[in-house]
Amino acid sequence: MNDMTTLFKKNIEISSQFSDKKQIILHLGDTLDFLKTIPDDVISLIISSPPYNLGKVYEKKVDIGNYLSQQKPVIAELVRVLKDDGSLCWEVGNFVNKGEVFPLDIYYYPIFKEQGLKLRNRIIWHFGHGLHASKRFSGRYESIIWFSKSDSFKFNLDNVRVPSKYPGKRHFKGKLKGKPSCNPLGKNPSDVWTVVKEDWDKEVWNIPNVKSNHPEKTIHPCQFPIELVERCILALTDKNDWVLDPYCGVGSALIASIKNNRKTVGCDKEKIYIEIAEKRIKDYFSGDLKIRPIGKPIFIPTGREKVSQMPIEWKARLENNEDSRDLLFQQR
Ligand SMILES: C[S@@+](CC[C@H](N)C(=O)[O-])C[C@H]1O[C@@H](n2cnc3c(N)ncnc32)[C@H](O)[C@@H]1O
Repeated sequence: MNDMTTLFKKNIEISSQFSDKKQIILHLGDTLDFLKTIPDDVISLIISSPPYNLGKVYEKKVDIGNYLSQQKPVIAELVRVLKDDGSLCWEVGNFVNKGEVFPLDIYYYPIFKEQGLKLRNRIIWHFGHGLHASKRFSGRYESIIWFSKSDSFKFNLDNVRVPSKYPGKRHFKGKLKGKPSCNPLGKNPSDVWTVVKEDWDKEVWNIPNVKSNHPEKTIHPCQFPIELVERCILALTDKNDWVLDPYCGVGSALIASIKNNRKTVGCDKEKIYIEIAEKRIKDYFSGDLKIRPIGKPIFIPTGREKVSQMPIEWKARLENNEDSRDLLFQQR
């Protein structure tokens, strides 16, 4: 069962235009146009993964200068709608052109800074799976740059503490000598987060072949894991606050907000993604949406799964002492 509480129990109305009296807004259209309809200083958290300009189905690849100048007016609008004690989390990876890597967080930083925002963390989101590169090391992280609008911002650390590695540790000197030294609620999760990139990734090992038809997977090529957004929401907002995703895709940030009793607003220019987002929200309320529980440990192969074992052909060669790496590579 979903953990719905009072805010959404009776009301699952999804509106298409912003109104502070509503709770869930899902808008189909261009984000810059839509943002202009939101009043100043109402949003507590903006969290988004903007288009990376990689030539995905929903975007046309342009040069990096052009791409960033298109983003500048959007960012100015985002800062306008953000409350004074609000935060903005911008999740980005790399723009790649002819094999050259442009880390987008570095390019975005001066744009946010020009708007007066203050960087609080550059969070590394590390994940285990992805494309295997052949001319550079395979990319296994993206970053979330978290800015606040002012020096008085919300940070609810206790909401997102994770279990301490050694909870039994004790002070070994001073007045507290002999007393437990850890926080009973757990430790700060740090600025390196390991969250499965896609909610269905965890199934790859124990239920082979389920990846492409796992119910959590939609047709969107780069969906947010709901769990990743939840950590930002829990740490940076309070119940009833507004959370905005200006490039909401299939609505992962909206679901994370609803699940945690925050009001939520999302916009995307693709009709199909908005339709999927709406369905996912409805499925959430009916209890039919599968969500990876926040903080659930990542599956570690035991070695007994077929996919985690060395192929028999390789094993045979090694047992015959043909153990040179060259021989193994020739076999591939
Ligand atoms: C990286 S994806 C975001 C995915 C989202 N985090 C999710 O969980 O589904 C970026 C999204 O931005 C949308 N988009 C690109 N340009 C847009 C624009 N000008 N206005 C509104 N949406 C836009 C794309 O359709 C795409 O769904």
